[in-house]
Amino acid sequence: MGERIRLYDPAPVSDSVSGSVLESDRQAVLSICVLTGDAGRDATGLGDPRELTERYAAPYLDLEREHAWVAEREGRVLGYLLAAADTASFAARFEARPSPLLNADARGRHAADMLRSADEEYPAHLHVDLLPEGQGSGFGRRLVEHCLEQLAAEGVPGVHLVVDPRNEGAQAFYARVGFTERRRDADGIVFGRLLS
Ligand SMILES: CC(C)(COP(=O)(O)OP(=O)(O)OC[C@H]1O[C@@H](n2cnc3c(N)ncnc32)[C@H](O)[C@@H]1OP(=O)(O)O)[C@@H](O)C(=O)NCCC(=O)NCCS
Repeated sequence: MGERIRLYDPAPVSDSVSGSVLESDRQAVLSICVLTGDAGRDATGLGDPRELTERYAAPYLDLEREHAWVAEREGRVLGYLLAAADTASFAARFEARPSPLLNADARGRHAADMLRSADEEYPAHLHVDLLPEGQGSGFGRRLVEHCLEQLAAEGVPGVHLVVDPRNEGAQAFYARVGFTERRRDADGIVFGRLLS
């Protein structure tokens, strides 16, 4: 089986012999979101995990799964990249999506946060996260390359993302894969990469 990057699959995975449901891509993505959710480290125990997954993972799987990829090794999902090609459109859909945790006010605030980092040059944004055992072996670079190739083919001019200032590893990573720092503010460090 080896290693591969593939599109997120919304179908539950079941064991062909017993019929029991194995870990689905969705469960894997939500769990990795929490296990990397504290500036790249495990956020388990730091509050309701849905505070993270309802902002940074589940909406992307529900609203824009054509831009969701997973990194798999020997059949196990070790990481993901979730992107929104047009942040303005995604923020509007995020706000309208009912959430088990976030009420309309909370969704509106998060949508406004997303919009603050986007502009016409850099309309897309992404999140990439890998479990520790998936880090440092090129998955992050391959996920970013897959995503940027797809977005460029769709005519998207640029991509941005926001990094927690405490996350020095991610800052080094984005610089190595062609992103440049655009600004720092209360939201974090905004990196961008033009695609044309
Ligand atoms: C940040 C992350 C996505 C990088 O993915 P990765 O698979 O570990 O990185 P890669 O192996 O593809 O490395 C690509 C390049 O970035 C560099 N790099 C990656 N992580 C680095 C780190 N922590 N410190 C310094 N350089 C780093 C690599 O050396 C490599 O450089 P090279 O191509 O010049 O040799 C991954 O480590 C991760 O998910 N971390 C935890 C969650 C997280 O912080 N996500 C980002 C939130 S904004």
